[in-house]
Amino acid sequence: METRDPRELIEATRDGTSLTETALRDFVAGVTDGRVTDGQAAAWLMAVCCRGLSDEAAAWLTSAMAASGEQLDLSALPHTADKHSTGGVGDKTTLVACPIAAAAGCTVAKMSGRGLGHTGGTIDKLESIPGLRTDLSTDGFLRQAREVGLVVAGQTADLAPADKRLYALRNETGTTESVPLIAASVMSKKLAAGAGAIVLDVKWGSGALVAPREEALQLARLMVHIGEANGRRVAALLSPMDRPLGRAVGNLLEVREAVETLRGSGPPDLRALSLELAARMIELSGVARSPEEADGRALEALESGRALAKLLAMVRAQGGDASLLEDPARMPCATLVEPLLCTAGGWVTAVDARRVAEAVELLGGARLSREVGPDPLVGIVLERTVGEECRAGEPLAWLHANDPARLETARECLGRAITAGGEMPAKGADPGEWVAGA
Ligand code: URA
Repeated sequence: METRDPRELIEATRDGTSLTETALRDFVAGVTDGRVTDGQAAAWLMAVCCRGLSDEAAAWLTSAMAASGEQLDLSALPHTADKHSTGGVGDKTTLVACPIAAAAGCTVAKMSGRGLGHTGGTIDKLESIPGLRTDLSTDGFLRQAREVGLVVAGQTADLAPADKRLYALRNETGTTESVPLIAASVMSKKLAAGAGAIVLDVKWGSGALVAPREEALQLARLMVHIGEANGRRVAALLSPMDRPLGRAVGNLLEVREAVETLRGSGPPDLRALSLELAARMIELSGVARSPEEADGRALEALESGRALAKLLAMVRAQGGDASLLEDPARMPCATLVEPLLCTAGGWVTAVDARRVAEAVELLGGARLSREVGPDPLVGIVLERTVGEECRAGEPLAWLHANDPARLETARECLGRAITAGGEMPAKGADPGEWVAGA
């Protein structure tokens, strides 16, 4: 292939002149094989941060990044559907929505990530189940997708290697917060993972990766455009992340809450969001012919218990101890479980998601680095959330800790996260809205 000088693309991006598909493809190939130096890649990332990319260029960039490594072929499997959340606090919807979609007839073969910054990661949550493996080979991943219809694993080493290098450089160079770079990073991995239908949950608010609503909306629109330009059926929900989703934050506590939701007794916001996302997976993958039929199939899969059975089958297939999920009372627990008490009685008017995440981090429940994982047992369970009344002296939340000193600092932080004592708030949680492509 004829190669170009990477400086041409850096200069064109810096100057805001239009980029060609070939130039972007060549640059990404150079990022993958090392022809493009760290300095050149970093300069280009900064140029994108400052000048942006057209939607068309973002779609070309994403497709080149997806093609930089292994691309899974799921075409022999029926109704393939994937789901992605841009991340939040207490966001365990994958553990609820994916089993619902799979029980309704989708093949859900999903690669997930670990915790990133203050947001939790599905792989860390799953690995809190004793014995469960997420490092599946490509063959093992495809076999489980075929035989069980549901697999959630870590990304294989060769998935979108161009993204791996660019992602590391973005972290080092202050270029993480660019809408086209985030969209290309997320969607390159979704395209390479091969599903025909992709449902995105794009969060905004204090606990989200992209806090301003307007920017999250741009991200959602661009990701839909990128997916559709690459031949996939895509839908994006723009949903609030100003308070934690559900009541539990912390890896095994979130697994427990996901199981409760699949049993029919979980928190209403988690149940509603999971049903919404699962229904769109069912619709876009062609299992259902209309949105109404998809809604009905999602509800039936949940209420019949078939979604819970699907999650248990997946856990067993990945070597996890499913009997713990069948009898949650046997799940391991942190050594200290203590309340945060309400001081002034009244209504809970705010639970700041970011601060709750900080309190969980203080307990040791966050991933500190690739090597240093979270304590799976620690976390927080809200006893009261926004719109609920609490009397002075009653528990607002429970802290699950394994270290008394950490417990005290986390309790202080959690106290600042919850605003209680005000008037009854006007409105409940906003479930979000579906967004059309750019
Ligand atoms: N997740 C990704 O995979 N990439 C980003 O850039 C941000 C979140």
